[in-house]
Amino acid sequence: MNPLALVTGASAGIGLKIAQELAERGHDIIAVGSSERVSSVSEKITGVQIYPVQADLTADEGIEKIWSTFESQGRNLDVAVLNAGKSLGGSFHDTDLDEELYMLNLNVISQVKLAKRVVRQLAQQRDGRILITTSMSALTPTPFESIYGPTRAFMYSFAQGLREEMKDYNVSVTALLPGATATDFHHTAKMDNTKFGDNSWKNEPALVAKLGVDALFAGKDHVIGGSEATQKDAQRKRTMSDIEKAEEFARTSRPSK
Ligand SMILES: NC(=O)c1ccc[n+]([C@@H]2O[C@H](COP(=O)([O-])OP(=O)(O)OC[C@H]3O[C@@H](n4cnc5c(N)ncnc54)[C@H](OP(=O)(O)O)[C@@H]3O)[C@@H](O)[C@H]2O)c1
Repeated sequence: MNPLALVTGASAGIGLKIAQELAERGHDIIAVGSSERVSSVSEKITGVQIYPVQADLTADEGIEKIWSTFESQGRNLDVAVLNAGKSLGGSFHDTDLDEELYMLNLNVISQVKLAKRVVRQLAQQRDGRILITTSMSALTPTPFESIYGPTRAFMYSFAQGLREEMKDYNVSVTALLPGATATDFHHTAKMDNTKFGDNSWKNEPALVAKLGVDALFAGKDHVIGGSEATQKDAQRKRTMSDIEKAEEFARTSRPSK
């Protein structure tokens, strides 16, 4: 029987490419997305078993649906990828509070809820690997995405702490920190009128996913997801002050009108 992987946000972008990488390495995939398009993952990824789950992670019923799909398999969970997430661009002064609270729910609270299930399962198995997609935004203040960045910093720090705890259970935890990546992400975040809105200069999601999955199986604590230029940018960020990083980030995230 193939090993089994759970991937959230598997219907598009980085998550779809992570699912493809895992399938190429022989994993059956429980593929989670909130819209109908998750059903098309079975056509995009062939050669392994795909179990599409349309579920909203921000609703308790959504988490329940994902978990009962896993439990109905009656087998171990070998890999869990907590990847789904979104952003919202604009000045905090102007942005909609409800949209921000929804993002906090999706990017942080729902991740913690699903992680609780995953961690207890893998600890009981005394085996497994967890990949958490955060962002290079975890390394910098993120003006004009001022709530998004802290959600990624939360998940990065969570991953690092969990990694140490889970050593006792033979479970590895790896954080993937993508640089800007050419997906629907910035469009969904209403950032078309920013430099982030232009996908032409960004990393390919396939590269980001490959780096993440390689790091997962190498048991690394984290990996920067992106090209050589992105890797250098991450190094540079570690030497800059928060003030400098905030000014630099704003040049890319500030709306043009
Ligand atoms: N793209 C970037 O520049 C970038 C950079 C750094 C980090 N990241 C991180 O990478 C991760 C994936 O982003 P992406 O670029 O691949 O974005 P994306 O192309 O917009 O894909 C987002 C995925 O999340 C799913 N999703 C959204 N809301 C959901 C919900 N409520 N419940 C369940 N699934 C939901 C979407 O499925 P449906 O649309 O079907 O709901 C989709 O599969 C995020 O955590 C993001 O923070 C992205």
